[in-house]
Amino acid sequence: MLGRKRRTGRSRNGPCEQAAGAGVLKDLNILLGITGGIAAYKAVDLASKLTAAGAGVRTVMTASACQLVGPKSFEAVTGAPVFTSLWSEPGPPTQGHQMSHIALADWAQIVVVAPATADIIAKVANGICDELLSTVLCTCWAAPTLLAPAMNTRMWENPATQRNIETLRARGVRMVGPCAGRLACGTEGLGRMAEPQEILAAIEEMADNRPKA
Ligand SMILES: Cc1cc2nc3c(=O)[nH]c(=O)nc-3n(C[C@H](O)[C@H](O)[C@H](O)COP(=O)(O)O)c2cc1C
Repeated sequence: MLGRKRRTGRSRNGPCEQAAGAGVLKDLNILLGITGGIAAYKAVDLASKLTAAGAGVRTVMTASACQLVGPKSFEAVTGAPVFTSLWSEPGPPTQGHQMSHIALADWAQIVVVAPATADIIAKVANGICDELLSTVLCTCWAAPTLLAPAMNTRMWENPATQRNIETLRARGVRMVGPCAGRLACGTEGLGRMAEPQEILAAIEEMADNRPKA
């Protein structure tokens, strides 16, 4: 179900993106979680950059994320099925029945959630598993994990969110952003998701620092 597709050396994204992340991300299994933040559309670009860099990308989207961006966009740029439910596997052909959350967690070498909502941050910090993404994240808690928080400034500054962020940092979860700037809700402040290029650089750094087999 999670097998890698063979790729030719040529990137579908052209020579500029071909160079991005060259080397360290090649053949790395990256689980990309997408949650219901308005910045979800930018994650399509991130998925494309990761794929162009030679990584195998499997995308897991929450129901809220699917309201904001179509799973087909991720499917198109990664050339791989997108996972949206605990209770079904993306369509044919599948090799027998496998529980997606365990299979995905076993497969992932690096886990990235971009954007990471206040909601998923709270769930991961507190071990809540009530849909596919939070369940996968709970299962692969030991994998190197990067979150790119994105939310309204007041949500970011909420003491509950800050406490959850501290909990996750203390557990070794890495963060990129959020950045200051204009937010989708029309206000200025801290809460913008880091740009895909910056997230890519953070993933490359994680890949570089992974214990080598
Ligand atoms: C248009 C829209 C944009 C949203 N953007 C964000 C956001 O950037 N960050 C955030 O934490 N929540 C945002 N929310 C609220 C989340 O979608 C909501 O908390 C949801 O329950 C998150 O679910 P998820 O974490 O399972 O994706 C937004 C909601 C809407 C309707």
